[in-house]
Amino acid sequence: MKHCATCHSADRYGSSAPPLIPLTLGKHGKLRVEKIIADGLPATNMPSYRGAIDARGIKAIVDYIFSPAAPPVWTIKEMLKTHRVSSTPSSRPVHGHDLSNLFLVVEGGKGEVCVMEGKGFNVLDRVKVGKIHGGPKFDYSFRYAYMVSRDGWIVKYDLYGLKEIARIRAGINTRNIAVSDDGRMLAVANYLPQGVVLIDTESMKPVKMLTSTGRIGAVYNMKGKKLFIALPRGREEFFLIDYSGKGVRVKRVGIPVSFDDVFMEPGGRYLVGTSRDKEKMVVFDMISGMVSREFRVDGMPHLASAALWKDGSTIYAAIPHIKKPVLTIMRLYDWKVVKTVKLKGAGFFARTHPGTDYIWVDTNTDTIQLIDRKSLEIKREITPERGRRAMHIEFTKDGRYALISIWEKEGAVVIYDTERLKPVKVLPFSRPVGKYNATNKTHIM
Ligand code: HEC
Repeated sequence: MKHCATCHSADRYGSSAPPLIPLTLGKHGKLRVEKIIADGLPATNMPSYRGAIDARGIKAIVDYIFSPAAPPVWTIKEMLKTHRVSSTPSSRPVHGHDLSNLFLVVEGGKGEVCVMEGKGFNVLDRVKVGKIHGGPKFDYSFRYAYMVSRDGWIVKYDLYGLKEIARIRAGINTRNIAVSDDGRMLAVANYLPQGVVLIDTESMKPVKMLTSTGRIGAVYNMKGKKLFIALPRGREEFFLIDYSGKGVRVKRVGIPVSFDDVFMEPGGRYLVGTSRDKEKMVVFDMISGMVSREFRVDGMPHLASAALWKDGSTIYAAIPHIKKPVLTIMRLYDWKVVKTVKLKGAGFFARTHPGTDYIWVDTNTDTIQLIDRKSLEIKREITPERGRRAMHIEFTKDGRYALISIWEKEGAVVIYDTERLKPVKVLPFSRPVGKYNATNKTHIM
């Protein structure tokens, strides 16, 4: 109360600073948290308490903040108290850059999202969002972008005027957001309070809070269907939030195993999901409401970051595995695994684009491996900086350039010519966890 509540809030659920609760601190461990309190966090508002509180005092605080907190009161009323409007949208672009080729670079080390144009790769603006791990979204008409922090702040950003419009805290512990087809609604997946919050993007005010009995791990928009799909953690069900009419309707769908991760095939009929502890991949037919295929997979396939492409009329998906150094190549609709490619390491992301012949995969090492889309053989390797982790690939709209992150505190985004496979530019960034191109992120199948 004396030292911490002004920023972290008396109920420990955070205000200007993040929550101090076991759910969010658990990943650090007690020793690390003691160190944070003693030393503070450089370049943030988190002060150092060395000298002000003795070692015993710090230990007592750590024990306290690792104990369960009373459930948060975070209703629409509390959300509205955090609502802030900072400017009005510009009626036309104040810059000459191609909106459909803008990038959002998430700079984890600074808690900022950088808006970057995709031709000369100049940073146009920076937005302080807070603790952030990825997932900013463009709307489908490239009018606004939405950014989200782990502790629930949602920022509406004007891509015409290059400025923040408004922000609101829609949750206490938030996973991700999705934008509706018409850009008028946002869905926010929350761990705390458990459920989904729907926000009207024009006012940036919540219109509905759908509470659930499970923590919502992710929410996605199902393009063209006017549906959000929300996945509760560890439960054999998902929710379809139908926003096609007036108001919203929620439908619960039972599934044989809980889905931790999904992707929707481009036709919008089959939802492919995996359950991590059951090591199963399930193809779920949304029309019949039945499972059409089920098979065993191990090594935690990362479906949300699978790469999809068309060869003639056949569609393939390349699926990375978080805990196994392989890339699974699957043919869609007969759901056959056509090849398992051995990789240098277990990565997170696979990406491809019509402008390159390769599937680009990261390997949690300093090397990106390039797999030829025809032969499905590893044909090339790229090492942007020896000994430094190269992760997450994103292409420019036309696929001429690939942007690769050096995932370190003093990191960088390295830009490669996808034809010559040579670096053309290195831009310094602090832990650039992700980069998102307006077109590739929203409009590619
Ligand atoms: C002046 C505001 C302020 C005060 C007072 C303050 N903090 Fe912080 N604290 C912050 C900010 C801001 C951050 C987030 C920094 C960042 O961006 O990573 C933070 C982060 C933390 C973190 C890391 C949280 C995480 O999820 O990684 C811990 C732990 C923490 N503070 C503990 C404390 C404790 C304990 C006290 C009181 C002894 C305290 N803080 C007082 C502003 C403050």
